[in-house]
Amino acid sequence: MKIAVLVSGNGSNLQALIDAQQGKQLSGQIIGVLSNKADAYALQRAENANIATAVISHKDFPNRESFDEAMHQQLLNWQIDLVILAGFMRILTPNFVSKWQGKMLNIHPSLLPFYKGVNTHQRVLNTGDRLHGCTVHFVTAELDAGQSIAQSVIEVSLNDTAESLAQRIHKLEHFIYPQVAQWICNGQLSWENGKAYFNQKPLERPIQFAQL
Ligand code: GAR
Repeated sequence: MKIAVLVSGNGSNLQALIDAQQGKQLSGQIIGVLSNKADAYALQRAENANIATAVISHKDFPNRESFDEAMHQQLLNWQIDLVILAGFMRILTPNFVSKWQGKMLNIHPSLLPFYKGVNTHQRVLNTGDRLHGCTVHFVTAELDAGQSIAQSVIEVSLNDTAESLAQRIHKLEHFIYPQVAQWICNGQLSWENGKAYFNQKPLERPIQFAQL
């Protein structure tokens, strides 16, 4: 499977995917890393691993449609089978999403359907939740609302800050994202008629990873 990873920032999840590929836990091949920001450290990580990069800045386009179309063309050029959003911080148009439906994953730092959008760690603290986590899901047109595939949960402690939660959640993400990507690569996880299947059976609820 030919994989593209879309990024906007640090790229620690990209690094986890690169490491998994190099360690043979991920059988797909990361063909290209696409960033909407030229200064994203993720690009450096890709270059260090000899992976092709592309920068497509949303600021160079008059609207979301034309930006998404440029990304789509790049993905076609790379002949991509699976698109992995890893800290990609742009909202995608329904038209773009429909072209990659069932072939595009996102990771989100909350236990979806709770805390869609940004600043999830601070919002969890503000509400006083005892549990927090991250979710890998298929991407559909509605933001952070596609079917959840896997989740990992932590207990929020009294000492946690938004920064400590971000760090703790990142550790979980680096474990579950390569695993879910591999399930797509080895055919265990698929998407048919708008629904996720795991081991040929409809996936009724997200797979829970044990607390790390
Ligand atoms: C990750 O925590 C990811 O869940 C989050 O951005 C971070 C990127 O970190 N994604 C979103 O908030 C998407 N809505 P990274 O650049 O180090 O992989």
